Amino acid sequence: MAEERFYGYRKPLKGRLQVPGDKSISHRAAIFGAVAHGTTTIRGFLRGDDCLSTLSCMRALGADVTDDGDLITIRGTGFEGLKEPESVLNVGNSGTTIRLLCGLLAARPFFSVLIGDASIHRRPMDRVLLPLKKMGADIWGRADDRYAPIAIKGRTLEPAVYQLPVASAQVKSALLLAGLQAKGKTVLTEPGASRDHTERMIRAFGGRIESEGQAHTLIGPQSLKGTDIRVPGDFSSAAFFIVAALITPGSKLCLTSVGINPTRIGMVDLLRQMGADISFTNEQDWNGEPAADIVVRYAPLKAATVGGALIPKLIDEIPIIALLATQAEGKTIIKDAAELKVKETNRIKTTVNELKRIGADIEETDDGMIIYGHPDQPFSGGSADSCGDHRIGMMLGHRQPKG
Ligand code: S3P
Repeated sequence: MAEERFYGYRKPLKGRLQVPGDKSISHRAAIFGAVAHGTTTIRGFLRGDDCLSTLSCMRALGADVTDDGDLITIRGTGFEGLKEPESVLNVGNSGTTIRLLCGLLAARPFFSVLIGDASIHRRPMDRVLLPLKKMGADIWGRADDRYAPIAIKGRTLEPAVYQLPVASAQVKSALLLAGLQAKGKTVLTEPGASRDHTERMIRAFGGRIESEGQAHTLIGPQSLKGTDIRVPGDFSSAAFFIVAALITPGSKLCLTSVGINPTRIGMVDLLRQMGADISFTNEQDWNGEPAADIVVRYAPLKAATVGGALIPKLIDEIPIIALLATQAEGKTIIKDAAELKVKETNRIKTTVNELKRIGADIEETDDGMIIYGHPDQPFSGGSADSCGDHRIGMMLGHRQPKG
Protein backbone atom coordinates (compact mmCIF):
# COMPACT_ATOMS: atom_id res chain seq x y z
CA MET A 1 0.00 0.00 0.00
CA ALA A 2 1.23 3.47 -0.91
CA GLU A 3 0.72 4.69 2.64
CA GLU A 4 2.88 1.92 4.07
CA ARG A 5 5.70 2.69 1.66
CA PHE A 6 5.80 6.30 2.75
CA TYR A 7 8.49 7.70 5.03
CA GLY A 8 6.24 9.84 7.13
CA TYR A 9 3.72 9.21 9.84
CA ARG A 10 0.92 6.69 9.32
CA LYS A 11 -1.87 9.16 9.95
CA PRO A 12 -2.17 12.79 8.89
CA LEU A 13 -0.90 15.25 11.50
CA LYS A 14 -3.57 17.79 12.32
CA GLY A 15 -3.92 20.42 14.99
CA ARG A 16 -2.30 23.36 16.73
CA LEU A 17 0.77 23.25 18.87
CA GLN A 18 3.09 25.56 20.70
CA VAL A 19 6.80 24.76 20.57
CA PRO A 20 9.12 25.71 23.49
CA GLY A 21 10.80 29.11 23.71
CA ASP A 22 13.61 30.22 21.43
CA LYS A 23 16.99 29.01 22.66
CA SER A 24 19.09 31.89 21.29
CA ILE A 25 16.71 34.53 22.68
CA SER A 26 16.49 32.77 26.08
CA HIS A 27 20.30 32.77 26.49
CA ARG A 28 20.46 36.46 25.65
CA ALA A 29 17.54 37.40 27.92
CA ALA A 30 19.32 35.72 30.87
CA ILE A 31 22.64 37.46 30.15
CA PHE A 32 21.19 40.90 29.43
CA GLY A 33 18.82 40.65 32.41
CA ALA A 34 21.84 40.07 34.65
CA VAL A 35 23.97 42.91 33.26
CA ALA A 36 21.13 45.46 33.14
CA HIS A 37 20.13 47.67 36.04
CA GLY A 38 16.79 46.87 37.62
CA THR A 39 14.38 44.01 37.22
CA THR A 40 13.92 41.87 34.12
CA THR A 41 11.14 39.33 33.76
CA ILE A 42 11.27 36.55 31.17
CA ARG A 43 8.15 34.69 30.02
CA GLY A 44 8.56 31.66 27.77
CA PHE A 45 12.22 31.05 28.76
CA LEU A 46 13.46 27.74 27.34
CA ARG A 47 14.19 25.47 30.31
CA GLY A 48 16.52 23.20 28.35
CA ASP A 49 19.94 22.31 29.75
CA ASP A 50 21.80 24.87 27.61
CA CYS A 51 19.77 27.87 28.76
CA LEU A 52 19.72 26.60 32.34
CA SER A 53 23.54 26.55 32.16
CA THR A 54 23.47 30.23 31.19
CA LEU A 55 21.12 31.01 34.09
CA SER A 56 23.30 29.19 36.59
CA CYS A 57 26.44 30.98 35.31
CA MET A 58 24.68 34.35 35.73
CA ARG A 59 23.69 33.35 39.26
CA ALA A 60 27.31 32.43 40.02
CA LEU A 61 28.30 35.90 38.75
CA GLY A 62 26.00 37.57 41.26
CA ALA A 63 22.66 38.00 39.54
CA ASP A 64 19.61 37.36 41.72
CA VAL A 65 17.51 34.93 39.66
CA THR A 66 14.17 33.46 40.74
CA ASP A 67 12.04 31.04 38.77
CA ASP A 68 8.43 30.40 39.77
CA GLY A 69 8.04 27.77 37.06
CA ASP A 70 6.35 30.25 34.72
CA LEU A 71 8.12 33.57 35.03
CA ILE A 72 11.85 34.07 35.53
CA THR A 73 12.78 37.23 37.40
CA ILE A 74 16.31 38.62 37.35
CA ARG A 75 17.42 41.49 39.52
CA GLY A 76 20.36 42.72 37.46
CA THR A 77 23.60 44.07 38.87
CA GLY A 78 24.71 46.21 35.93
CA PHE A 79 27.95 45.19 34.18
CA GLU A 80 29.93 46.71 37.04
CA GLY A 81 28.04 44.78 39.75
CA LEU A 82 29.03 41.31 38.47
CA LYS A 83 31.32 39.56 40.94
CA GLU A 84 34.14 37.06 40.67
CA PRO A 85 32.68 33.54 40.68
CA GLU A 86 33.87 31.31 43.51
CA SER A 87 34.29 28.31 41.25
CA VAL A 88 34.64 27.45 37.58
CA LEU A 89 31.68 28.35 35.38
CA ASN A 90 30.36 25.18 33.74
CA VAL A 91 28.50 25.78 30.46
CA GLY A 92 27.64 22.10 29.92
CA ASN A 93 27.01 21.52 26.21
CA SER A 94 26.29 25.15 25.33
CA GLY A 95 28.45 26.87 22.72
CA THR A 96 26.37 30.04 22.96
CA THR A 97 26.97 30.29 26.71
CA ILE A 98 30.73 29.83 26.58
CA ARG A 99 31.34 32.16 23.65
CA LEU A 100 29.07 34.97 24.86
CA LEU A 101 30.51 34.77 28.37
CA CYS A 102 34.06 35.11 26.99
CA GLY A 103 33.10 38.53 25.62
CA LEU A 104 31.25 39.54 28.75
CA LEU A 105 33.91 38.45 31.24
CA ALA A 106 37.00 39.64 29.33
CA ALA A 107 36.01 43.18 30.38
CA ARG A 108 35.17 42.45 34.04
CA PRO A 109 37.98 43.09 36.57
CA PHE A 110 38.20 39.59 38.01
CA PHE A 111 39.34 36.04 37.30
CA SER A 112 37.06 33.45 35.78
CA VAL A 113 37.39 29.99 34.24
CA LEU A 114 34.94 28.52 31.71
CA ILE A 115 34.59 24.79 31.23
CA GLY A 116 32.02 22.52 29.54
CA ASP A 117 31.41 18.94 28.49
CA ALA A 118 33.59 16.85 26.16
CA SER A 119 31.91 18.25 23.03
CA ILE A 120 32.45 21.87 24.14
CA HIS A 121 36.13 21.13 24.79
CA ARG A 122 36.51 20.05 21.14
CA ARG A 123 34.81 23.11 19.57
CA PRO A 124 36.84 26.07 18.26
CA MET A 125 37.20 28.94 20.71
CA ASP A 126 40.01 30.81 18.92
CA ARG A 127 37.35 32.53 16.77
CA VAL A 128 36.36 34.44 19.93
CA LEU A 129 39.68 34.54 21.80
CA LEU A 130 41.72 36.05 18.94
CA PRO A 131 39.53 39.14 18.39
CA LEU A 132 39.16 39.60 22.15
CA LYS A 133 42.97 39.57 22.48
CA LYS A 134 43.06 42.28 19.79
CA MET A 135 40.82 44.32 22.11
CA GLY A 136 43.47 43.83 24.82
CA ALA A 137 41.91 40.89 26.68
CA ASP A 138 43.92 38.59 28.89
CA ILE A 139 42.22 35.38 27.92
CA TRP A 140 43.70 31.94 27.34
CA GLY A 141 42.54 28.55 26.15
CA ARG A 142 43.94 25.05 25.89
CA ALA A 143 46.10 24.13 22.85
CA ASP A 144 47.33 27.62 21.97
CA ASP A 145 43.99 29.28 22.68
CA ARG A 146 42.09 26.96 20.39
CA TYR A 147 39.89 25.16 22.91
CA ALA A 148 38.22 25.33 26.34
CA PRO A 149 38.84 25.31 29.28
CA ILE A 150 39.25 29.07 29.07
CA ALA A 151 40.84 31.28 31.72
CA ILE A 152 40.16 35.02 31.84
CA LYS A 153 41.81 37.79 33.83
CA GLY A 154 39.34 40.55 33.06
CA ARG A 155 40.52 44.11 32.36
CA THR A 156 39.63 47.33 30.56
CA LEU A 157 39.32 46.65 26.83
CA GLU A 158 39.81 48.76 23.72
CA PRO A 159 36.82 48.93 21.35
CA ALA A 160 36.97 46.57 18.36
CA VAL A 161 37.12 47.28 14.66
CA TYR A 162 36.92 43.76 13.35
CA GLN A 163 35.95 41.87 10.22
CA LEU A 164 34.57 38.47 11.19
CA PRO A 165 36.01 35.69 9.00
CA VAL A 166 32.80 33.60 9.35
CA ALA A 167 29.17 34.64 9.76
CA SER A 168 28.73 33.62 13.40
CA ALA A 169 26.19 35.13 15.78
CA GLN A 170 28.09 33.73 18.74
CA VAL A 171 31.30 35.50 17.79
CA LYS A 172 29.48 38.72 16.90
CA SER A 173 27.56 38.63 20.20
CA ALA A 174 30.68 37.98 22.29
CA LEU A 175 32.37 41.00 20.70
CA LEU A 176 29.27 43.17 21.13
CA LEU A 177 29.16 42.26 24.84
CA ALA A 178 32.81 43.27 25.11
CA GLY A 179 32.22 46.42 23.03
CA LEU A 180 29.31 47.52 25.25
CA GLN A 181 31.85 47.74 28.09
CA ALA A 182 34.78 49.30 26.18
CA LYS A 183 35.19 53.08 25.78
CA GLY A 184 34.69 54.13 22.16
CA LYS A 185 33.33 52.87 18.87
CA THR A 186 33.13 49.15 18.15
CA VAL A 187 32.48 48.24 14.51
CA LEU A 188 31.97 44.60 13.52
CA THR A 189 31.52 43.52 9.92
CA GLU A 190 30.27 40.07 8.99
CA PRO A 191 30.78 38.25 5.67
CA GLY A 192 27.04 37.37 5.67
CA ALA A 193 24.07 38.05 7.91
CA SER A 194 23.99 35.84 11.01
CA ARG A 195 21.11 35.84 13.49
CA ASP A 196 20.61 39.31 14.97
CA HIS A 197 18.98 38.55 18.35
CA THR A 198 21.76 40.30 20.28
CA GLU A 199 21.33 43.54 18.34
CA ARG A 200 17.56 43.43 18.89
CA MET A 201 18.01 42.65 22.58
CA ILE A 202 20.47 45.50 23.13
CA ARG A 203 17.74 47.83 21.83
CA ALA A 204 15.05 46.14 23.97
CA PHE A 205 17.22 46.85 27.04
CA GLY A 206 17.51 50.53 26.11
CA GLY A 207 20.96 50.27 24.46
CA ARG A 208 22.02 51.77 21.15
CA ILE A 209 23.44 49.88 18.17
CA GLU A 210 23.29 50.68 14.47
CA SER A 211 23.30 48.03 11.77
CA GLU A 212 23.92 48.92 8.15
CA GLY A 213 24.16 45.96 5.83
CA GLN A 214 26.53 43.58 7.55
CA ALA A 215 28.24 46.27 9.69
CA HIS A 216 27.23 46.74 13.33
CA THR A 217 28.35 49.81 15.26
CA LEU A 218 27.98 50.71 18.91
CA ILE A 219 29.60 53.25 21.18
CA GLY A 220 30.56 52.12 24.67
CA PRO A 221 30.36 52.05 27.53
CA GLN A 222 26.60 51.65 27.78
CA SER A 223 24.32 51.07 30.70
CA LEU A 224 21.28 48.86 30.10
CA LYS A 225 17.89 48.91 31.80
CA GLY A 226 15.89 45.81 32.84
CA THR A 227 12.75 45.04 30.87
CA ASP A 228 9.94 42.48 30.42
CA ILE A 229 10.79 39.88 27.79
CA ARG A 230 8.41 37.44 26.09
CA VAL A 231 10.31 34.70 24.29
CA PRO A 232 8.59 33.44 21.11
CA GLY A 233 8.63 29.75 20.14
CA ASP A 234 11.85 28.48 18.62
CA PHE A 235 11.70 28.24 14.82
CA SER A 236 14.41 25.56 15.02
CA SER A 237 12.03 23.40 17.11
CA ALA A 238 9.09 24.23 14.87
CA ALA A 239 11.17 23.00 11.90
CA PHE A 240 10.84 19.36 13.03
CA PHE A 241 7.03 19.58 13.06
CA ILE A 242 6.96 21.51 9.78
CA VAL A 243 8.87 18.65 8.16
CA ALA A 244 6.66 16.02 9.81
CA ALA A 245 3.60 17.70 8.24
CA LEU A 246 5.29 18.15 4.86
CA ILE A 247 6.16 14.46 4.51
CA THR A 248 2.84 13.05 5.74
CA PRO A 249 -0.09 13.20 3.27
CA GLY A 250 -3.23 14.90 4.53
CA SER A 251 -1.43 16.87 7.27
CA LYS A 252 -2.16 20.42 8.34
CA LEU A 253 -0.49 21.95 11.40
CA CYS A 254 -0.64 25.37 12.98
CA LEU A 255 2.40 26.20 15.12
CA THR A 256 1.49 29.13 17.33
CA SER A 257 3.62 32.15 18.33
CA VAL A 258 6.85 31.08 16.65
CA GLY A 259 9.74 33.51 16.15
CA ILE A 260 10.01 34.48 12.47
CA ASN A 261 13.08 36.70 12.67
CA PRO A 262 14.24 36.92 9.01
CA THR A 263 17.79 35.91 10.00
CA ARG A 264 16.41 32.60 11.32
CA ILE A 265 13.87 31.42 8.76
CA GLY A 266 15.93 30.72 5.66
CA MET A 267 14.30 27.29 5.72
CA VAL A 268 10.93 28.84 4.82
CA ASP A 269 12.42 30.36 1.64
CA LEU A 270 13.94 27.00 0.77
CA LEU A 271 10.72 25.07 1.48
CA ARG A 272 8.69 27.43 -0.72
CA GLN A 273 11.23 26.89 -3.49
CA MET A 274 10.72 23.12 -3.03
CA GLY A 275 6.95 23.55 -3.39
CA ALA A 276 5.83 23.65 0.25
CA ASP A 277 2.55 25.20 1.33
CA ILE A 278 3.54 27.31 4.34
CA SER A 279 2.15 30.64 5.53
CA PHE A 280 2.23 33.06 8.49
CA THR A 281 -0.79 34.53 10.28
CA ASN A 282 -1.33 36.60 13.41
CA GLU A 283 2.02 38.42 13.08
CA GLN A 284 3.17 40.24 16.23
CA ASP A 285 6.14 42.07 17.67
CA TRP A 286 7.62 40.62 20.86
CA ASN A 287 10.27 43.02 22.24
CA GLY A 288 11.51 43.78 18.74
CA GLU A 289 11.37 40.11 17.63
CA PRO A 290 8.71 39.21 15.03
CA ALA A 291 6.48 36.22 15.90
CA ALA A 292 3.58 34.56 14.05
CA ASP A 293 1.46 31.43 13.79
CA ILE A 294 2.89 29.18 11.08
CA VAL A 295 0.43 27.13 9.03
CA VAL A 296 1.85 24.24 7.03
CA ARG A 297 0.11 21.68 4.83
CA TYR A 298 1.38 18.50 3.22
CA ALA A 299 2.63 18.98 -0.34
CA PRO A 300 4.74 16.84 -2.67
CA LEU A 301 8.18 18.45 -2.85
CA LYS A 302 10.90 18.78 -5.44
CA ALA A 303 14.66 18.94 -4.84
CA ALA A 304 16.61 22.22 -4.60
CA THR A 305 20.15 23.55 -4.30
CA VAL A 306 20.96 25.55 -1.20
CA GLY A 307 24.12 27.53 -0.44
CA GLY A 308 25.62 31.01 -0.07
CA ALA A 309 23.95 33.69 2.05
CA LEU A 310 21.01 31.41 2.88
CA ILE A 311 23.20 28.98 4.86
CA PRO A 312 23.61 31.02 8.10
CA LYS A 313 19.84 31.56 8.09
CA LEU A 314 19.12 27.82 8.20
CA ILE A 315 22.35 26.35 9.58
CA ASP A 316 20.71 24.61 12.57
CA GLU A 317 17.96 23.15 10.35
CA ILE A 318 20.26 21.33 7.91
CA PRO A 319 19.92 17.88 9.53
CA ILE A 320 16.12 17.99 9.25
CA ILE A 321 16.33 19.55 5.76
CA ALA A 322 18.47 16.56 4.73
CA LEU A 323 15.78 14.18 5.95
CA LEU A 324 13.13 16.18 4.11
CA ALA A 325 15.22 16.06 0.93
CA THR A 326 15.13 12.23 1.00
CA GLN A 327 11.39 12.64 0.36
CA ALA A 328 11.66 15.33 -2.34
CA GLU A 329 11.79 14.32 -6.00
CA GLY A 330 15.32 14.74 -7.41
CA LYS A 331 18.81 15.67 -6.26
CA THR A 332 19.18 18.20 -3.43
CA ILE A 333 22.58 19.83 -3.00
CA ILE A 334 23.61 21.54 0.24
CA LYS A 335 26.83 23.53 -0.18
CA ASP A 336 28.86 26.30 1.56
CA ALA A 337 27.98 24.70 4.89
CA ALA A 338 31.45 23.78 6.26
CA GLU A 339 30.46 25.47 9.57
CA LEU A 340 28.41 22.33 10.24
CA LYS A 341 31.68 20.54 10.99
CA VAL A 342 32.16 22.54 14.21
CA LYS A 343 28.71 22.22 15.76
CA GLU A 344 27.89 19.89 18.71
CA THR A 345 29.06 17.11 16.36
CA ASN A 346 30.45 17.27 12.84
CA ARG A 347 26.92 17.55 11.45
CA ILE A 348 27.93 16.83 7.86
CA LYS A 349 29.25 13.44 8.97
CA THR A 350 26.62 12.63 11.59
CA THR A 351 23.70 13.57 9.33
CA VAL A 352 25.04 11.62 6.35
CA ASN A 353 26.21 8.56 8.32
CA GLU A 354 23.06 8.18 10.41
CA LEU A 355 20.67 8.72 7.49
CA LYS A 356 22.68 6.20 5.44
CA ARG A 357 22.37 3.64 8.23
CA ILE A 358 18.59 3.69 7.90
CA GLY A 359 18.65 3.54 4.12
CA ALA A 360 18.81 7.10 2.76
CA ASP A 361 20.59 7.78 -0.53
CA ILE A 362 22.94 10.54 0.59
CA GLU A 363 26.59 11.44 0.24
CA GLU A 364 29.01 13.69 2.05
CA THR A 365 30.86 16.53 0.30
CA ASP A 366 33.57 18.89 1.54
CA ASP A 367 31.16 21.64 2.48
CA GLY A 368 27.80 19.92 2.67
CA MET A 369 25.99 16.92 1.23
CA ILE A 370 24.04 15.60 -1.75
CA ILE A 371 20.72 13.88 -1.16
CA TYR A 372 18.91 11.80 -3.77
CA GLY A 373 15.22 11.92 -3.01
CA HIS A 374 13.10 8.82 -3.62
CA PRO A 375 9.66 9.67 -2.23
CA ASP A 376 8.21 6.34 -3.39
CA GLN A 377 10.81 4.06 -1.86
CA PRO A 378 10.75 3.03 1.79
CA PHE A 379 13.90 3.27 3.86
CA SER A 380 15.46 -0.11 4.65
CA GLY A 381 15.42 0.78 8.38
CA GLY A 382 18.11 -0.10 10.92
CA SER A 383 19.47 1.42 14.04
CA ALA A 384 20.89 4.93 14.18
CA ASP A 385 22.58 7.03 16.81
CA SER A 386 22.07 10.68 17.78
CA CYS A 387 25.81 10.81 18.62
CA GLY A 388 24.83 12.95 21.62
CA ASP A 389 23.66 15.77 19.33
CA HIS A 390 20.12 17.02 20.02
CA ARG A 391 19.39 18.12 16.47
CA ILE A 392 20.49 14.74 15.05
CA GLY A 393 18.32 12.97 17.67
CA MET A 394 15.26 15.07 16.78
CA MET A 395 15.82 14.43 13.07
CA LEU A 396 16.09 10.67 13.57
CA GLY A 397 12.94 10.78 15.70
CA HIS A 398 10.96 11.04 12.45
CA ARG A 399 12.01 7.51 11.51
CA GLN A 400 9.04 5.31 10.74
CA PRO A 401 9.68 1.56 10.73
CA LYS A 402 9.11 -0.05 7.35
CA GLY A 403 5.95 -1.95 6.45
C1 S3P B 1 23.69 30.62 17.88
C2 S3P B 1 24.43 30.84 16.75
C3 S3P B 1 24.76 29.80 15.78
C4 S3P B 1 23.84 28.59 15.94
C5 S3P B 1 23.71 28.17 17.37
C6 S3P B 1 23.11 29.31 18.20
C7 S3P B 1 23.42 31.75 18.80
O1 S3P B 1 26.09 29.38 15.96
O2 S3P B 1 24.30 27.51 15.15
O3 S3P B 1 22.85 27.04 17.48
O4 S3P B 1 22.52 31.66 19.66
O5 S3P B 1 24.12 32.77 18.68
P1 S3P B 1 27.35 30.15 15.29
O6 S3P B 1 27.46 31.49 15.90
O7 S3P B 1 28.53 29.28 15.60
O8 S3P B 1 27.06 30.21 13.83
